[in-house]
Amino acid sequence: MKFFLDTANLEQIKEAVSWGVIEGVTTNPTLISKENMEFEELIKKICEIVPGPVSVEVISQEWKGMVEEAKKFAELAENVVIKIPMTVDGLKATRELSRKNIKVNMTLIFSPSQALLAAKAGASFISPFIGRLDDISTPGMNLIEDIITIFNNYMFDTEIIVASIRHPLHVVEAALLGAHIATMPFQVLEKLVNHPLTNIGLERFLKDWEKVKK
Ligand code: G3P
Repeated sequence: MKFFLDTANLEQIKEAVSWGVIEGVTTNPTLISKENMEFEELIKKICEIVPGPVSVEVISQEWKGMVEEAKKFAELAENVVIKIPMTVDGLKATRELSRKNIKVNMTLIFSPSQALLAAKAGASFISPFIGRLDDISTPGMNLIEDIITIFNNYMFDTEIIVASIRHPLHVVEAALLGAHIATMPFQVLEKLVNHPLTNIGLERFLKDWEKVKK
């Protein structure tokens, strides 16, 4: 399973990449708005730090505008992936961009039918938002299970980025289901490391080491 970081914060990205477990980054307008930096400069910097795909979201709502924005973003760095919302215009733009070999991550996916359409339009990635489904009392992980079944049935190459992850169990459940990628905030990545028994065990080892004749 690949791990992406769901942030546009350079410090967090640098730190997480230094752990050796991050293969990409996902951004969105909300995450970009939190950083006090010029948009294109920020994207270029992220793309330099991260070895793999960096998703950047278009703002246009009409497909030709989406394609134009996408072409500009794609020139910023080789590893830019274009985030396109799941709308009819988004599908048209995805088809057009995939013909031009520009990778698309279709975002704001909330149902298996939307995932199926995105794969058929040629999206390289899809982003189902599980936390936001959980927020409205709909089990987000059921969506991941359904999408995996559908993609396996028809051998789609589209990779599933489990998004809107809120806690470590989301990551573990997505991994148990076999999702390709989990994108998570830095705080969730940190929580994946921690276990109280690891801390207690380490403390005991260090204490006992003091008794060793040296
Ligand atoms: O990757 C999508 C993510 O940024 C949305 O997360 O927590 O706003 O639902 P959240």
